[in-house]
Amino acid sequence: MKDVKKAETLEILDELEIKYLGRKGELTGLLKGLANVSKEERPKLGALANDVKQAGLELIEKRRNELASSRFEALADTERADMTEPGNRAPDGHLHLVTQAIREITTIFERIGFYRTRYPEIDWDWYAFESLNMPKEHPARDDWETFFMDALESDKKRKGKMVLTPHTSNAQGRELERGEFPVRMLNIGKCYRRQSDATHAPMFHQFEGLLVDEGINLSHLRGILDYFAEQFFGKGRVSRIRPHHFRFTEPSFEVDISCGVCGGEGKIDGKKCKVCKQGWLEIGGAGMVHPNVLTASGVDPKKYSGLAFGWGIERVAMMKEGTQLDDIRILYQNDVRFLKQF
Ligand code: FA5
Repeated sequence: MKDVKKAETLEILDELEIKYLGRKGELTGLLKGLANVSKEERPKLGALANDVKQAGLELIEKRRNELASSRFEALADTERADMTEPGNRAPDGHLHLVTQAIREITTIFERIGFYRTRYPEIDWDWYAFESLNMPKEHPARDDWETFFMDALESDKKRKGKMVLTPHTSNAQGRELERGEFPVRMLNIGKCYRRQSDATHAPMFHQFEGLLVDEGINLSHLRGILDYFAEQFFGKGRVSRIRPHHFRFTEPSFEVDISCGVCGGEGKIDGKKCKVCKQGWLEIGGAGMVHPNVLTASGVDPKKYSGLAFGWGIERVAMMKEGTQLDDIRILYQNDVRFLKQF
């Protein structure tokens, strides 16, 4: 039984117990041999064998306790729980690139007196189209028609269809009919279109500016565009406007921002700029509010005039230096490896 005292692990001890005291063990073998011993000797030898078994069991039990307690001691040293240690912190997240852009754009416009609004993203046909000088069946609607649903409302003007708004311009009528001037609205919301490719997402965000007061003219629009270009994209960046057509502005423009990579030259070292190809990047539409839009919302176009613009948030965020994305849809794939970079 010396090896019991020397056993280093509980597993070795279990094996020794089976070896000496188990059903097929050495002591059991000896007891079986008692059958061949004389009647007188048998009880004595039997009692002796039981004593040996008992002593063996006690020895094994003692060693088992020793091993168990030294194992607990070792565990207490290596796996001790220090209740005073600071816990593991969940990893910190941060705001999505689009939310960061929304906040920055809001601050830029608040500095020049615009206030932030939010209007329905499912709205009446009236606000999304008709009040914006786009009567039913007008072809100008074609690119913007999304998902319509029938809806009932007692107000005759609004009865009919509701639509997932394709642009934030539905806010124009809603803000104008409040009848409070000057209007300096910055409306930010989600928009929906039947589009999905590298530069178009089926759901995206726009910010819509509307400034309506007495005496608002094109030079105000130019000033706001250049102010935004420099504030959002950085010093030296400027805007330009190109003639375009929207039903709700007259005149209407497409707005471009000078490219930050080639400095508006369209070329770097004699080669075409890969980002803009021609020195300018298109960011969205703008124009002077059409008199029909003012009239539709009960505003006198002889007294008031206004300017409006509507640009994509994802697009302007993508144009910012350091954010060169080659597919807009990656913004909504929720891949943390991508999102972590911004
Ligand atoms: C409009 O939506 C007009 N309502 C803008 C406007 C407002 C003009 C006020 C005049 C006065 P347009 O369809 O061009 O215009 O869209 C404007 C901008 O939204 C685009 O230049 C682009 O930046 C963004 N945009 C449009 N479709 C998508 C899309 N599918 N994914 C991402 N951005 C888009």
